[in-house]
Amino acid sequence: MRLIRSIDEVRHFSRQLRAHNASLGLVPTMGALHEGHLSLVRKAKNDGGAVVVSIFVNPTQFGPREDLSRYPRNLDRDLDLLAPMDVDAVFVPEAAAIYPPGFDTFVEPGAVAQPLEGASRPGHFRGVSTVVLKLFNIVEPTFAYFGQKDFQQAIVVRRLIEDFNLAVRLVLCPIVREPDGLALSSRNAYLKPIERAVALTLNRSLRRAGEVFCSGEASAQAIAGEMKAVLQAEPRVQVDYSVVVAPNTFAPPSRVTPGCVALVAARVGSTRLLDNLILASPNTSDEERLLLALAV
Ligand code: PAJ
Repeated sequence: MRLIRSIDEVRHFSRQLRAHNASLGLVPTMGALHEGHLSLVRKAKNDGGAVVVSIFVNPTQFGPREDLSRYPRNLDRDLDLLAPMDVDAVFVPEAAAIYPPGFDTFVEPGAVAQPLEGASRPGHFRGVSTVVLKLFNIVEPTFAYFGQKDFQQAIVVRRLIEDFNLAVRLVLCPIVREPDGLALSSRNAYLKPIERAVALTLNRSLRRAGEVFCSGEASAQAIAGEMKAVLQAEPRVQVDYSVVVAPNTFAPPSRVTPGCVALVAARVGSTRLLDNLILASPNTSDEERLLLALAV
């Protein structure tokens, strides 16, 4: 596993990797790696090509009052986690390499980036789209691996790939959870023990949405109402949004069908958490749910 810090070097190395392998997979991350990130790396490895993981805490996707300065960073630990996974390279650029003095061009994502995370975090998807496009141009992967955990981000990236005719295929991977249901997140490290218990309410609200959908409810408002009831019963959860939407527009559908998505964002203490569930009949696997959502 090669640790690469320079753009020129990773460009050169990934060209070599592509020449000697059937494909090249890129797993973009901000580090503080956990099993969720590692599931993307594992999927990339299983797909059989060479694998590059990028670790870059991208300043342009953080708002002025967000957690950029305290975002968990632990490169040594990240490298220890990646070392046994037989990754070809880990690309860890400095912010000054990605955004040198004079940098002045951004990707402005459209409608799918406006609601939900886009509304709560103005400029967030502009920063994500910009850095993802740069990483794609630098590494030139054939496949790029993203997690369902950040469902809207994945759909924004899918739009970016289509709209800019990028020669990369998006691979979306299911949410990895703790045994009790909490979605893994680098930000879980912020949670105090009591907050960690309270944070389970997000997943509980999604499970409720799943139950209500499976019992035959097809009204987005009614399902979202049930989620809200679960969330409101826990006063230590400050809900940002809890919705049921179509997976391509993020607008509530007139009728909820398999592949529609229940999404929740909420603050527990000072930690902002996200979770989502793709609605489908009870025995549908996570991978099948993703296919349903991406088919819409
Ligand atoms: P980060 O939050 O580090 O996440 C990197 C990737 O890991 C994302 O695609 C995210 O959806 C996925 N991921 C996070 N938690 C997961 C979980 N519990 N299960 C499965 N996948 C999970 O997302 C970003 O970084 C950045 O916005 C980035 C795309 C790197 C651009 O800066």
